[in-house]
Amino acid sequence: MMAKIDLKLLRNQAQKAIDLTKDLKELNDIFKRYLGKRGQLTQVLRSLEKLPETKRAKVGKEANELKSFLRIKCDQKAREIKEKIRKETAKTEWIDITRPGERPALGHLHPLSQVKNKTEEIFQLMGFSVVEGPEIENEWYNFDALNIPKDHPARDIWDTLWLKPEVRSPNSQRLLLRTHTSPVQIRYMEKNNPPLRIIVPGRVFRHEATDASHEINFYQIEGLMVDKKISVANFKAIIQHFFQQFFSTPGGEKSIGIRLRPGYFPFVEPGFEVDMICLACGGRGCSVCSQTGWLEMMGAGMVHPNVFKAAGLNPKNWQGFAFGMGLDRLAMMKHKINDIRLFYSGDLRFLNQF
Ligand code: FA5
Repeated sequence: MMAKIDLKLLRNQAQKAIDLTKDLKELNDIFKRYLGKRGQLTQVLRSLEKLPETKRAKVGKEANELKSFLRIKCDQKAREIKEKIRKETAKTEWIDITRPGERPALGHLHPLSQVKNKTEEIFQLMGFSVVEGPEIENEWYNFDALNIPKDHPARDIWDTLWLKPEVRSPNSQRLLLRTHTSPVQIRYMEKNNPPLRIIVPGRVFRHEATDASHEINFYQIEGLMVDKKISVANFKAIIQHFFQQFFSTPGGEKSIGIRLRPGYFPFVEPGFEVDMICLACGGRGCSVCSQTGWLEMMGAGMVHPNVFKAAGLNPKNWQGFAFGMGLDRLAMMKHKINDIRLFYSGDLRFLNQF
């Protein structure tokens, strides 16, 4: 009798609690309160065995019916609450599927990388291979092998950033941050027999004051072509073709003004410097070209016999030209940039333009 009263009471209490709740977590608590492991109805079901046999079947039946009833009630209520939440959310968080998509912002290559890639492409089409060399270089490759012995005044052309004297290469050479890409000429000729055509793009370092056209850390592209018969005329033709291709715009062949003037580099003979009309000012004169209307783009010349010897080649058998071009300056001319330092500023307002 007692169990019967309890079941009625339980049913009323549970049903009321389920009807009143508006919250899924609370509904879960109610479920546990009656049907959980220690739930009130569970306790009743467990205590059935203690009842006299005459009552057990009846009370058991009623308790199991109540159990199914409460389960169904809880399920129904959960569905109601979820539907209500869905409707409320739909009111505030709706999706307009007709709205045009928003394109995610995509990054792009740095303008200097773009210029490097374009340069490689043009030279590769002329049969040049792209080669790399170390940024930390030893004294032999950066200077001695390039016909610039110690105490030679020409070393002053390149203001060098040296590593600490106690840091040495395995053969006890002093180490430095390479001042130009020319050491790769030697490294490559040591391991490869002519005929050869290479370009070497890479970062170089100089301990010098910066201005609109000078950085302490900038990029060069070295070029080297060696064969039985190579002359200045070959160099001029190749470099003119490169400039033409590099600066030509789609649909228009652009005539690029370049000039060769004598220049001194110990690793070439004769040596020259190649200038181009300053495209930042159209040749009128500006801070980029130091008001001259011309900007120095590269040093170049015919490979010096001592350089062939240092690389283990017989200068009697081989001739070649070499050049070292300022990659940053190419980019400045291409995009009419009036200050090299902008490339290294990390300023997205500048970089996003390319
Ligand atoms: C050299 O570095 C020689 N190794 C080039 C060379 C190679 C000559 C092979 C002969 C044969 P130079 O110091 O002039 O030369 O530099 C070459 C080019 O690098 C310059 O023409 C210029 O375009 C660029 N350059 C030089 N200094 C800077 C700098 N501080 N900032 C940006 N570009 C520079």
